[in-house]
Amino acid sequence: MMDYRELKCPPSLRLSLQQESDAADLFALVQLEKERLSRHLSWPQLINDVNDTLANIRHNRADFAEGRSAVYVLRWDEELAGILSYNTINDKQAEIGYWLAARHEGRGVMSTAVAALMDWYAAADRLDTFIIRCGVSNRASNRLAQRLGFEFDYRQVRAEKIGDCYVDHNVYRRQYPKP
Ligand SMILES: CC(C)(COP(=O)(O)OP(=O)(O)OC[C@H]1O[C@@H](n2cnc3c(N)ncnc32)[C@H](O)[C@@H]1OP(=O)(O)O)[C@@H](O)C(=O)NCCC(=O)NCCS
Repeated sequence: MMDYRELKCPPSLRLSLQQESDAADLFALVQLEKERLSRHLSWPQLINDVNDTLANIRHNRADFAEGRSAVYVLRWDEELAGILSYNTINDKQAEIGYWLAARHEGRGVMSTAVAALMDWYAAADRLDTFIIRCGVSNRASNRLAQRLGFEFDYRQVRAEKIGDCYVDHNVYRRQYPKP
């Protein structure tokens, strides 16, 4: 059985399962990036105390232990840069979620990280199908899915409420061949 707690991709990328000791730094980063992240994500508005982050981390770790999700802290050159996760895992299919701090955006960091995360789980055939869902107007996230070879699957109308508005989602899918 593979250990899916940490992936190092030299020279710069490290993905580590969230730990309770990450709470303070993660909370601070989310506060710093709250306005920007809230353009495309609903949950940052709900994070107002370090204990909110700590509670999330505990919940995510319990889910990981049950094989239901996997939430990783993304570090670039050992600096906390964002989060990359399997928000849900069902059998061999997983839904991918991600966000990055502004200063790391637009340099291919998340494309590299998502590709590495998928390869890691697909190599031992733990997963073979990956889903990305993103707001139709979220250009960076749509482009990321497309550049990683995801195929457009369907559009879900009024999929998510962001602030006061409902947004439609594009749902993308990528299937790995048997290893
Ligand atoms: C989505 C996100 C993780 C992409 O990370 P990233 O490391 O910048 O993405 P990459 O550099 O790997 O590139 C992905 C594509 O987005 C484009 N892109 C990156 N930043 C962008 C920006 N600010 N505006 C428009 N496009 C952008 C890149 O040019 C690239 O497109 P290309 O293939 O046409 O060159 C990041 O923009 C982010 O954190 N956004 C806010 C949170 C969010 O929207 N999460 C996803 C919810 S579904």
